[in-house]
Amino acid sequence: MPEHHPPIARLRSLRSVALRTTHCAESAEFYHEVWGLRPVEQEHGATWLRGTGPEHHVLQLQQAAQNALGKIVFSVATPAEVDEAARRLDAHGIALVTEPGKLDQVGGGYGLRFGDPEGRLVELTADVEAVVPDDPDGHPAVPRKLAHVVLNTADIDTVCEFYTRVLGMRVSDWSEHQMAFLRCNSDHHVIAFNQAPFPSVNHVAYEMPSIDHFMRGIGRLRHHGITPLWGPGRHGPGNNTFSYFADPGGLVCEYTSEVEQVVEDAWLCRVWRRTPELSDLWGTAGPPSKDVRTHMAGVPDPGYTAWWYG
Ligand SMILES: [Fe+2]
Repeated sequence: MPEHHPPIARLRSLRSVALRTTHCAESAEFYHEVWGLRPVEQEHGATWLRGTGPEHHVLQLQQAAQNALGKIVFSVATPAEVDEAARRLDAHGIALVTEPGKLDQVGGGYGLRFGDPEGRLVELTADVEAVVPDDPDGHPAVPRKLAHVVLNTADIDTVCEFYTRVLGMRVSDWSEHQMAFLRCNSDHHVIAFNQAPFPSVNHVAYEMPSIDHFMRGIGRLRHHGITPLWGPGRHGPGNNTFSYFADPGGLVCEYTSEVEQVVEDAWLCRVWRRTPELSDLWGTAGPPSKDVRTHMAGVPDPGYTAWWYG
């Protein structure tokens, strides 16, 4: 029997995601002018953007030679939990990329970093700088926060095992043996993994405060001449609304709302068959087109070691 070690931390939320993009300036303009995020910081080749919620930023864009994941950032409650996570990572035999300490980056905070089995950079943070919530339930049809990130994986069982055993996440549902939806709080999923030929970013979803905001957001994009790659519709797993678009760099972004709320002790994981009526509950979206599937497949992500130590 392998020695059992507890998960490294109790993750509270998905704070933000960093994306490496071939079109940083154009994408920063898109996420600000069209998508509805607001820049909090900008420097040559990088932009940090926030939603209307209390997170300092939800998206970091960085100019790069190819599209890739920069990092995924989870919150823990306290710096002491970051320190404890470092000890537990060691017990799991996982090397730290960044030792626990004050983070010299936009938004500050106290954190650490490590890599997952497919070379994704994971950051845990506490004590990040506060910003004033910008009327999260207000009238403008703009995102409140990050809803989830879907990541393509070449080995769904290995990554699910890692994110559940090491990071303490729970599998909320499976879509056959093709997708796994993982939660760390009451949201049905903050991460989903999709079995694919290679690891890459599938898409990033942003939460709208209501279905009305969701539809008005789609309307605003239409006024900018941008129509959904897929949607609007409502997914079976998670019961959330969806509408997918491509950003100027070709990365897929999604507006979503009304994601199912999980009661931890009552939830039972299900396996959803991949039928049209279960994937698209309203029957409005139809099957995903070749175009959206190509965008969601992305390009093979070489992992953080390809650029972190460069
Ligand atoms: Fe999604």
